[in-house]
Parts: sequence; structure tokens; C-alpha cells
Amino acid sequence: MNREEAWKLLNEFTKSDSLLKHALAVEAAMRHYAARFNENADWWGVIGLIHDFDYERWPNAPEHTTEGARVLRERGVDEEIVGAMLSHATWQRDQYPLDRPVRKTLSAVDELCGFITAVAYARQNGVKLMAGRFLGWQDWTSFTVKSLMLVPRWRLARMSMEAGSSSIIKCSAPNAEWV
Ligand SMILES: [Fe+2]
Repeated sequence: MNREEAWKLLNEFTKSDSLLKHALAVEAAMRHYAARFNENADWWGVIGLIHDFDYERWPNAPEHTTEGARVLRERGVDEEIVGAMLSHATWQRDQYPLDRPVRKTLSAVDELCGFITAVAYARQNGVKLMAGRFLGWQDWTSFTVKSLMLVPRWRLARMSMEAGSSSIIKCSAPNAEWV
């Protein structure tokens, strides 16, 4: 699967502007780390681009990722891409562990991109944020910059650490010195 095919697939299943932006953010991060670790940036970028392509149609676990994997396999997509996509869901870790750099990186940058995007939005106008995810709220909700300002600074710092390190800690396995 090349980048053009991945973008086409993503747009076939995803209409949400925010989800498309998230996919592009994760793609960019994956390409960056692929270059840093001397891996194939095109390959890693495709994985970042399609990792949530099924989310809009199947937002709940385990269909999110399993249905996506089914679609990918039906279309003959390489199993390494399918496995990487499956591995970013915590409910698939038994079968698809974070046992290789591409999976570790996807897991880490997925959360981090979400947080960075939320912060970027918060610095502009009152916007809908994904930060509810990091605050531990059950339902994603909208709140304004004003409400974010009510969050203590220590809590924001902790959110940042949790968003980044929850995945990164999982990456702290042997041979993960690049984390
Ligand atoms: Fe994601």
C-alpha cells in the first residue's frame, strides 16, 4: 500500500475533518521517527495515516481495529501494516504486542499527537478539544479555552506527562533506548 492508496482508503471511510487531521498528524510523526531510526518513512507514514481509518464507522472496541483489519486483509494489504494498526489498540495487545519499533512508535505518537492537537486548539479560540480523553472524562465533550484555564497548571503538566509517557513507558522495553 502506497501513500496515495492509503489516503484514498482513509477518505473512503472517514469524513470527519478532525479525524483526517489526526491521521495526517500521526503520519507526519511516524515519518519523522522513521527517519530518525533509519526505517522506511513511506512505510511508517502509511501506517500512521490509516491507523484509525475505521474509527468513524466502528468507534467502539473491539470493532475499531478488528473491522479495519478485516477490510485491509480483504484488500490484500501487507500483514505488517495490518499488525501495526491492530497493535495500537490496547485490547489487541495479546495478539499484537508492541514488540517492534513501528508498533511502539505508533502507540506513542498516537496519544501524543492527540494531546498536541488539543493544546494547539486551546491556544486559539474556544474550540472542541480532545483533551477530555486525557482528563479521563467518559464522554468526549467540548469546552472552551476559558474552561481549560481553570485546570490547574500542575494538572496540565500531569496530563502532558500521562499523554506522552503512558505510551512511552510501555515502550520502555529492552532495546527501546530510543524512547
Ligand atoms: Fe489515533
